[in-house]
Amino acid sequence: MSTNVWKENLYSGRVVAVSGAASGIGAAVSIGFLRAGAAVVGGDVNDIALNRFVEQLPATLRERFVPLVLDVSRTESADAFVAAVHERFGRMDVLINNAGIAPVGSVTETSNELWRRVMSVDVDGVFFLARAALPYLIAARGSIVNTASVSGIGADFNYAAYNAAKGAIVNLTRSMAIDYGKSSVRVNAIAPGPVRTPLLEDNFRAIPGLDDAFSTFIPLGRIAEPGEIADAVLFLASPAASFITGAILPIDGGVTAWNGQPNGDFVS
Ligand SMILES: NC(=O)c1ccc[n+]([C@@H]2O[C@H](COP(=O)([O-])OP(=O)(O)OC[C@H]3O[C@@H](n4cnc5c(N)ncnc54)[C@H](O)[C@@H]3O)[C@@H](O)[C@H]2O)c1
Repeated sequence: MSTNVWKENLYSGRVVAVSGAASGIGAAVSIGFLRAGAAVVGGDVNDIALNRFVEQLPATLRERFVPLVLDVSRTESADAFVAAVHERFGRMDVLINNAGIAPVGSVTETSNELWRRVMSVDVDGVFFLARAALPYLIAARGSIVNTASVSGIGADFNYAAYNAAKGAIVNLTRSMAIDYGKSSVRVNAIAPGPVRTPLLEDNFRAIPGLDDAFSTFIPLGRIAEPGEIADAVLFLASPAASFITGAILPIDGGVTAWNGQPNGDFVS
């Protein structure tokens, strides 16, 4: 799955901030923007993974990548991250709110601590970073892409906190889109279906058989690769999407096109 569909200079001179940049979708999105010419500031709470990601970057991309330790669930950390981007580059054109966690659990299986943790990383994190970044994005007439999920459009079995958090991101995206439209800031969200990343691999370990079940129930018959999500993010943040704001874009191989009723093929 290629991430090379974007012109090399599409984002030249632009500054892009990505949360959760060390792994999975965030890493692929960072590489996509770097290949398209942007300077990328990648924040992640896992400094070891972030350093590993930097080491793997080709030198030509690494010179435009700035790694910063960031905990999106802490308002001081989010503020410091955005201030550091501004101090270094004097501008911010794009914010990608990607950091997220997805622990398993129905309501009765979810402790207060786990509920708060998911809300603070997945929801507070988007709010904290967006609030800090918006003054700079307004100055740049820039854009935000939030990472929601198909899990914010419909529900999964046994992911109560995650479903609630991703649902909140969907409507926070719409709220910001209408509040900042007149300031020429566009705010959209992606709603990926299953993507082959460490987060999903963790869930495959927690729920035996989930891997095969995904492939069976996804109309395109397979899980997405992170680069396929990155391509959609680069589109939404680019001038090619100049009249798109408040959109929640499923990138899900057809998962949300299906109403859940069984296919006769499954009855034998
Ligand atoms: N993988 C999927 O199938 C899938 C599907 C839909 C949506 N998503 C969403 O995509 C986003 C990225 O997921 P991924 O699959 O690449 O996961 P991942 O676990 O591979 O990467 C997530 C990154 O976020 C970082 N992170 C976690 N908590 C953080 C915090 N408090 N502050 C800063 N960074 C933090 C992690 O260290 C990690 O590097 C998440 O928001 C996830 O909910 C993933």
